[in-house]
Amino acid sequence: MSENLNKLLNQKIEQYKSKTQQSHKLQLNATKFMPGGSTRTTQWMEPYPFYAKNAKDQHITDVDNNSYLDFMINATSLIHGHASPKVINAIKTQSDIGTAYSAPTDGQTKLAKLLTDRTPSIETLRFTNSGTEATMMAIMAARAYTNKQKIAKFEGGYHGTHDHVSISVGPKESELNESTNPGILQYPGQPKSLLEDVIVLPYNDIEKTKELLTQHSKEIACLIMEPVISGLGYLPLDIKFLEFTREITKELNIVLIYDEIQSYRLAPGGAQELFNVTPDMTTLGKIIGGGLPVGAFGGKEDIMDLLNPSSENYNLSHAGTFNGNPLTMEAGAVVMEELTDEKYEKMNTLGDDLRSKLNSIFNELEINAQITGIGSLFGINFNDNKIKDYRSFIKNDGLLTKILFMGSINNGILMQTKNAGALNTLSSELEIIKLEESTRTIATEIKSNI
Ligand SMILES: Cc1ncc(COP(=O)(O)O)c(C=O)c1O
Repeated sequence: MSENLNKLLNQKIEQYKSKTQQSHKLQLNATKFMPGGSTRTTQWMEPYPFYAKNAKDQHITDVDNNSYLDFMINATSLIHGHASPKVINAIKTQSDIGTAYSAPTDGQTKLAKLLTDRTPSIETLRFTNSGTEATMMAIMAARAYTNKQKIAKFEGGYHGTHDHVSISVGPKESELNESTNPGILQYPGQPKSLLEDVIVLPYNDIEKTKELLTQHSKEIACLIMEPVISGLGYLPLDIKFLEFTREITKELNIVLIYDEIQSYRLAPGGAQELFNVTPDMTTLGKIIGGGLPVGAFGGKEDIMDLLNPSSENYNLSHAGTFNGNPLTMEAGAVVMEELTDEKYEKMNTLGDDLRSKLNSIFNELEINAQITGIGSLFGINFNDNKIKDYRSFIKNDGLLTKILFMGSINNGILMQTKNAGALNTLSSELEIIKLEESTRTIATEIKSNI
């Protein structure tokens, strides 16, 4: 069985190589100057990434002139598709009058108001240049607020690339111990002391999470979590679990931080609005910057007041040369203004339709697959186990995952390498059908080689 499937994967890889020869040349040159020829882990893929020439609306075109229907949209960030005219116009207008000032602009206030008005947990916020900085600053604010040093996070939870959240993000199955805590370091030389300071919890496990949080509560400043887990095919956490984590963190004086850097696209006020669970702090990124680098963290005013230089509570400095840069602020404001209730509803309904169509394909063909996701987010997983946490997710079949990913690219469909993706406000029934048809063709090939 796996011999045939390996052959099928190799055919798909050879087909990709034959269509992307110019990209291959550029990649060989790039490897002389950047490790792996790339400057971002997720930009790299096997055998090599295609190089972008341009993109418009829902399509990205590579340097060999292959066009791809884009469900990756730069890690879900381009919610109105590529080169959205209003966004481009805002960037052009602003760039004519300056790209960065050391003085504030009213554009910062405009975007801050748009975000605070719609997000239940955010009374005030600060901008950063990436989601990584946003989670780093939110954690620092929670520490300063509680005067406690440890943090809690979940096994398999990704919150950017700084050290404190880089524990047990994607450990290999062979590295796992029975308990999620102590966690697992990500790279040699990463301070072992972090394992003392970062308490690692299992998703959707109320009993174990309660035990670990209670045991360390006097030292835990915050719990940082995504309500919908991006790295696990956009799996929404059980509502009971979300309610439980809200209650217990309140009880134990632990700041609850929702990382909504991806899930913010699910409703005007993010997943917290959808699930009606309000954290103490929230981190944002991706869609709020109009396709330019961005992040934000915010929450209860008494926590955020620690960053206010004119307050007697001021004890946390937050600098950053490009924080709130006017290009991002203007582009972000246009994007958020354009995101009406109807647009969320349309995207989410199409998402429901897509997940149901994908489910039917694998049911009809009797292939063990689970379609995860919620709203405009989806994930296709080949897995016999019910996906509920990191350990069940990593049972996904790696070979079938690669065949579907590579086959989709050859069919002109771009998803994340885990076969997850996002719709956008331009998505229609047509794109759903294209993805459905492509997936059906590849699934049928898989079936005949099992
Ligand atoms: C849930 C989550 N948190 C944090 C980050 C980090 O954001 P950035 O890549 O902007 O640093 C990401 C990025 O993919 C993310 O998905």
